[in-house]
Amino acid sequence: MSGTGGARPFVTLSWAQALDGSIAAAPGTRTAISGPESMAMTHRLRAAHDAILVGVGTVLADEPSLTVRFAEGSHPRPVVLDARLRTPPSARLFGPGDRRPIIVGSAGADRGAGGALEAAGARVLLIEPGPDGRPPLPAVLEALYEEGVRRLMVEGGASVLAAFLAEDLADELVVTVAPRILAGLNPFHPAPAGIDAARLACSLAGVGWERHGDDMVFRGRPRR
Ligand SMILES: NC(=O)c1ccc[n+]([C@@H]2O[C@H](COP(=O)([O-])OP(=O)(O)OC[C@H]3O[C@@H](n4cnc5c(N)ncnc54)[C@H](OP(=O)(O)O)[C@@H]3O)[C@@H](O)[C@H]2O)c1
Repeated sequence: MSGTGGARPFVTLSWAQALDGSIAAAPGTRTAISGPESMAMTHRLRAAHDAILVGVGTVLADEPSLTVRFAEGSHPRPVVLDARLRTPPSARLFGPGDRRPIIVGSAGADRGAGGALEAAGARVLLIEPGPDGRPPLPAVLEALYEEGVRRLMVEGGASVLAAFLAEDLADELVVTVAPRILAGLNPFHPAPAGIDAARLACSLAGVGWERHGDDMVFRGRPRR
């Protein structure tokens, strides 16, 4: 699969939202949105991917472990988009086992922070940043492919979901919609800083939907 010419993993963008599109009750807070049945579906989806990617904002807000707990299957490798290497070496995603999380930072990031993350067991990939100071996503995907990642699940948060969608780097969306209104953080409206709102609008092709408990899960391929 080709992004800027190099091979890249298949990318599944997956998140849970309320009826109003909120993915958290407020920016930077962790909010349980999915019911147990759709949570189990998400964990089966995790097990079907080689790696799960989140932004450092989610690591700092949610302390996720990014493991497969509510389904059978092995834990995918955690990946954190983290230009300035702010991921704490004590973060929960370092356990369990020897998953060796991948922290993707920008070339020029603090060497001490990189060393501390490596000492904690991470693989630190430093990539030449784009004009926004962050590793460009096509280069991130090529680097992950070289690490052996063929199927990547992108779980959030708001800025990272919007960035993948805006750059046409999502091959499939799997969106859990829970029957509640949060009036909180919406990943697409207003568009996160630096993202052109016009690049976010799309519809889905090959749509499927399923009921899991009280939640609905939509799947499809983004289409402009
Ligand atoms: N409901 C759900 O399914 C779900 C799932 C996950 C998270 N969430 C929620 O989402 C919220 C966190 O979202 P968030 O937007 O604050 O954080 P985020 O998207 O997890 O992380 C954003 C950070 O990632 C780094 N980054 C590196 N490269 C990037 C790139 N190309 N594009 C965008 N970001 C890049 C940036 O920090 P640097 O510039 O320092 O690298 C940026 O500030 C939390 O409230 C969390 O609970 C919800």
